[in-house]
Amino acid sequence: MTELAFTRVAVIGAGTMGAGIAQVCAQAGADTTLNDISDEFVQRGLGTITRFLDKGVEKGKVTEDARASTLDRIRTDTDLAAAVSDADLVIEAVPEKLELKNDVFLRVAKSCGDAAVLATNTSSLSLRGVFADVPHSDRCIGMHFFNPVPIMKLLEIVRLESTDASVLDRVRTFAGQLGKEPIVVKDSPGFATSRLGVCLGLEAIRMLEAGVASAEDIDKAMELGYRHPMGPLKLTDLVGLDVRLAIADYLDGELDSPAFAAPDLMREMVKRGELGQKSGRGFYDWRAD
Ligand code: CAA
Repeated sequence: MTELAFTRVAVIGAGTMGAGIAQVCAQAGADTTLNDISDEFVQRGLGTITRFLDKGVEKGKVTEDARASTLDRIRTDTDLAAAVSDADLVIEAVPEKLELKNDVFLRVAKSCGDAAVLATNTSSLSLRGVFADVPHSDRCIGMHFFNPVPIMKLLEIVRLESTDASVLDRVRTFAGQLGKEPIVVKDSPGFATSRLGVCLGLEAIRMLEAGVASAEDIDKAMELGYRHPMGPLKLTDLVGLDVRLAIADYLDGELDSPAFAAPDLMREMVKRGELGQKSGRGFYDWRAD
């Protein structure tokens, strides 16, 4: 069996993305530690992973053995210093707030080993900002996963100018071992995926606001006309309106383009708590799901 590029992974943040990332690392054979600030959060993350694996077994996509060994390889730890101390790869997946990510990496850098590679799952923030307080930026990189992580094939690797070529190679190899297809993008606002994806999502909301068509028909336009697996409004519901609004506001400040100005409708919906699938309501009613 080929040796894994990383054998001990620590994932910081046990939300939807962190849980999915921990699952694919453990499924690939890495000893994986899932960390968050409370036991309630890590247990919730573990619950997400267990449910996904159970469904995989039901669908015949995951064997009973793979389910059991994946869960065996995941341990949880609410102490960040302990979680990263013996990791050869640390992947941060905490909410998209620069100060929060800075604080996490400041603490990770103090407690991880000298050779550990530090990765962020940020979907848009400048890596230079995220790793501002990490002394060894040659070992820093972006590993941007997509929701639902165990199913989506892409890994967007983001490299800083300072990222060492051997680190990039190792992460690229690991992507393949996770069953992902990597692309490599330089550190720039929104990278390739969020810059294009958010642009389409915001235009769809502007069209809905202007009464061009119903949400269902706008989505159908892209699903049937362009073969997107999911229309831009449904996808915004899946990602979360709050998450996409934060990315839009960031890109609006960074890129010289009117395309990233968030529509009023989006701001109002976020204010009303209509965040998409996770809150039960967004452009669609998800309460029955
Ligand atoms: N375990 C293993 N495999 C599973 C599974 C499980 N629990 N559940 C589903 N699968 C497999 C299915 O068997 C199926 O495999 P095949 O294609 O080999 O048959 C595949 O996964 C798709 O599953 P379904 O057929 O059940 O579901 P679907 O066809 O309705 O697709 C979807 C669901 C993958 C979410 C699809 O709608 C899709 O691709 N949507 C777009 C998602 C997207 O764009 N995500 C990116 C969001 S942006 C982001 O994440 C970045 C960010 O920074 C915020």
